[in-house]
Amino acid sequence: MSLTAYNNVPLPSWMYGTAWKKEATAQLVQHAVAAGFTAIDTANQLIHYQEALVGDALQTLAKQGITRESLFLQTKFTPVNGQDHRTPYDVKADLTTQVKQSFDSSLNHLHTDYLDSYVLHGPYTRYGLGAADWEVWAAIEELYQSGKAKMIGISNVTAEQLALLCKQAAHKPMVVQNRCYAALGWDKEIREICRAQGIIYQGFSLLTANREVLVAPDVRAIAQRFKAGVAQVIFRFAMQVGMLPLTGTTNPQHMKEDLQSDQFTLSPEDVERIETIGM
Ligand SMILES: NC(=O)c1ccc[n+]([C@@H]2O[C@H](COP(=O)([O-])OP(=O)(O)OC[C@H]3O[C@@H](n4cnc5c(N)ncnc54)[C@H](OP(=O)(O)O)[C@@H]3O)[C@@H](O)[C@H]2O)c1
Repeated sequence: MSLTAYNNVPLPSWMYGTAWKKEATAQLVQHAVAAGFTAIDTANQLIHYQEALVGDALQTLAKQGITRESLFLQTKFTPVNGQDHRTPYDVKADLTTQVKQSFDSSLNHLHTDYLDSYVLHGPYTRYGLGAADWEVWAAIEELYQSGKAKMIGISNVTAEQLALLCKQAAHKPMVVQNRCYAALGWDKEIREICRAQGIIYQGFSLLTANREVLVAPDVRAIAQRFKAGVAQVIFRFAMQVGMLPLTGTTNPQHMKEDLQSDQFTLSPEDVERIETIGM
């Protein structure tokens, strides 16, 4: 199954996230692809991600016959406020140059000449969008126009910022990647903008940001009814409301279980119960 954004580029309905995997990154990416994931999320940000080790895994997979074209690779430009001293760009360069340097470094790490999706890790400004955001977005749009990034997107964005970007950018994002809190109706306001604009909403930390939901009696009862795990119920819910879920599991058995979340269908009542559980 795949999802399609407004520019008609398809992306797989699941994504494996590589944050915080450290030295295990390459091994875990290989396990994830063996389990059936075809989309991988990373970032050129050494505090949290080992993008070069994702690249090592891709080289090993290529030797096993898994082609670049059969995988969907997504990485991010991380502004300086999200980096430590190991930036993949010259911090003294202008922002347009920083995006180009970071992008080229990502291509190098991942041994490819294009990315399926390139994401701005987060706006520089907390409220609205400032000059730095517009400059960086224009540099990212240029990568899209050149064909080197098949899709572009933004992460850690507010509804106000997303609406502004959709209204004023030459190319609105095709993907949004946000931490998804049940207390905010699972980011309902932003998901609604995405639905209206043909943007794919990617939800992350669906489990870790919602630990209270995982132990809620109603959710446990739903899981029991389907003889499924609670994590599977949350991922199934995410898919049924139109999200693309990310999983950050480090356990090959959980990888398989997460992918099997589409083997049952929640009732509209179950979906409504979970959607409103934290509100
Ligand atoms: N854009 C951003 O700023 C940003 C920020 C954070 C994350 N992300 C992306 O989102 C990805 C996922 O984030 P996350 O790691 O917070 O997501 P997550 O999937 O909510 O959390 C991972 C945790 O859930 C557990 N888990 C997963 N499947 C399970 C299952 N079937 N049963 C029981 N436990 C299960 C894992 O334990 P086990 O390892 O034991 O399975 C792990 O402790 C990251 O890797 C990254 O790519 C993006």
